[in-house]
Amino acid sequence: MLWIHPLLQLFATGLAVYVLSLGWVRFQSNHFGKTGKFQWMEHVKFGKYAHILWMSGLVLGQYAVSKYWGSNGVTGNHYWIGQLMMPCIAGGYITGVIMDRNKQRRQYMPLVHGVFNALAVVLALAQAVTGAIVIRDFMLL
Ligand code: HEM
Ligand code: HEM
Repeated sequence: MLWIHPLLQLFATGLAVYVLSLGWVRFQSNHFGKTGKFQWMEHVKFGKYAHILWMSGLVLGQYAVSKYWGSNGVTGNHYWIGQLMMPCIAGGYITGVIMDRNKQRRQYMPLVHGVFNALAVVLALAQAVTGAIVIRDFMLL
């Protein structure tokens, strides 16, 4: 049970890095006039998967910690970075859905969306490090 969350989140984070690489092409054409084909449908599809997996993983991680180790927050930094990721995921998702449903030339909303999501990816990579420490200190000892 305790291994499901780390494996799920690692997979979700790998997926999010791929989605970011698709978004990078769009970022360069939106703001720097570079040409490049943005795979819109693929970006939206896998972006949704990454967000849904991250959020389900977060809930599962909290459930597992409270069930096996008593109360939430015992993992320290890992817990708090997880809480910080929540508004980034929500903001990234909402702006993404708005832009996908109503397509038009935009400058600022893609930027807000990109910042929320890029921050979420950076925090998730930090979670891989703090999560590995949780595994070492709580599960392998
Ligand atoms: C981890 C997930 C995601 C990452 C890392 C990500 C990243 C990005 C980035 C960097 C851009 C370019 C922003 C810019 O040009 O300034 C972008 C554009 C876009 N993203 Fe995402 N995104 C993610 C998830 C999603 C989701 C879930 C949706 C839809 C529900 C979505 C819809 C879009 C759309 C429609 C654009 C193009 C906006 C435009 O140029 O008008 N993205 N994304
Ligand atoms: C990427 C690799 C990650 C690893 C290796 C990892 C590892 C862990 C481990 C071992 C636990 C203990 C519970 C369990 O095993 O089910 C845990 C809990 C938790 N994880 Fe992760 N995690 C990762 C990513 C994430 C991400 C991306 C988030 C947020 C979206 C997150 C949020 C949490 C939260 C909120 C808890 C509960 C902490 C507490 O209540 O103290 N984790 N994680």
